[in-house]
Amino acid sequence: MRLLVTGGCGFIGTNFVYLMQERHPDWEIINLDKLTYAGNRKNLLSIENNNAANYSFVHGDICDKEFVSNTLEEHKIEAVVNFAAESHVDRSINDPAPFLTTNICGAQNLMECARQAGIEKFVHVSTDEVYGSLGMNDPAFTENNPLEPNSPYSASKASADLMARAYFETYNFPVSITRCSNNYGPYQFPEKLIPLMYTKVITGEQLPIYGDGSNIRDWIYVDDHCTGVELTLLKGQPGRAYNFGGAAEKTNLELVHELLAILGKDESLITYVTDRPGHDQRYAMDYAVAEKELGFAPSVTFEQGIKKTIKWYQDNGQWLEDVRSGAYREFMNEWYGDRK
Ligand code: NAD
Ligand code: TYD
Repeated sequence: MRLLVTGGCGFIGTNFVYLMQERHPDWEIINLDKLTYAGNRKNLLSIENNNAANYSFVHGDICDKEFVSNTLEEHKIEAVVNFAAESHVDRSINDPAPFLTTNICGAQNLMECARQAGIEKFVHVSTDEVYGSLGMNDPAFTENNPLEPNSPYSASKASADLMARAYFETYNFPVSITRCSNNYGPYQFPEKLIPLMYTKVITGEQLPIYGDGSNIRDWIYVDDHCTGVELTLLKGQPGRAYNFGGAAEKTNLELVHELLAILGKDESLITYVTDRPGHDQRYAMDYAVAEKELGFAPSVTFEQGIKKTIKWYQDNGQWLEDVRSGAYREFMNEWYGDRK
């Protein structure tokens, strides 16, 4: 298969490319990435340096019609997986505009170019956040829950999901949607909870917990999400959305305590800061449909996954140092500076 992966230099995209290279060495993967602050071409350098005939990198924007169309044509692309996005809720609160541009207009442009090129399969990677927030006693989200996004990030992702639905209904465009819970693992940019807290522990900074730390997320090891995307690519029905989750609900406070325990640190670094506006209380995923139709099940427990993840960050201190520069520091100073 000749597969276009967009956003392959980001966190999940990088893990997906490594996993697919291992599992499907016959696939030709073309990675299209704009290299925003969150994209790091070095992540996949070991593949590039091998001069692998089954991997190439193209630098560009999913919003650029001519560029995307040319890439699809030049590489005779058969299928597309769209990971490219602005992905951080806090940044979307600070400045929503780039989220609309990439996550809505970029996704539509990619689908339009793919439609014109007669692509056989398109997987649009979305998120559980499109469903909004659950109460403590609510059942987990199913694919039948209404889309009730609360942040500019999740609203932009929900908009793209609706556009994907429209492309299927209107043009019979072969798009399937994946909606997954919070990922963690290697290569995650240290603005998200787990790598942020790890970084702050090793630099001896305070660990900022929003509100009272009771918000719940369902954590999935990144390879399990990548397997869900792979299964959707291979077996997903066009016009359908599939939920994926890790069956590991935790409050933020529980998670940070576990992290501190593994790192052998006490809780004195924890500090409670102003809550995130519109902070979703709880996410939980019912992935029975993916289990039944695609054969999906998370394979890594949180206890295994968090240890693997911490070990990766410990072994890759230089990676962390490299990405913690420029734009990263600017945003961190502004956002956390205001929240004390
Ligand atoms: P990320 O921020 O780590 O990576 C995003 C990548 O997209 C970067 O490499 C960036 O350079 C690239 N990109 C951004 N704008 C682009 C554009 N206009 N054109 C081309 N490339 C562009 O994100 P991630 O955490 O890897 O998330 C990947 C996808 O998975 C996103 O669509 C996100 O909404 C979704 N998702 C993430 C999670 C999570 O927990 N991280 C959970 C569910 C779904
Ligand atoms: P995050 O990793 O940003 O993912 P998302 O908002 O997409 O779920 O945040 C995960 C949870 O951790 C969320 O409830 C917000 C909380 N959080 C903090 O308490 N402090 C922080 O510094 C960050 C980044 C997040």
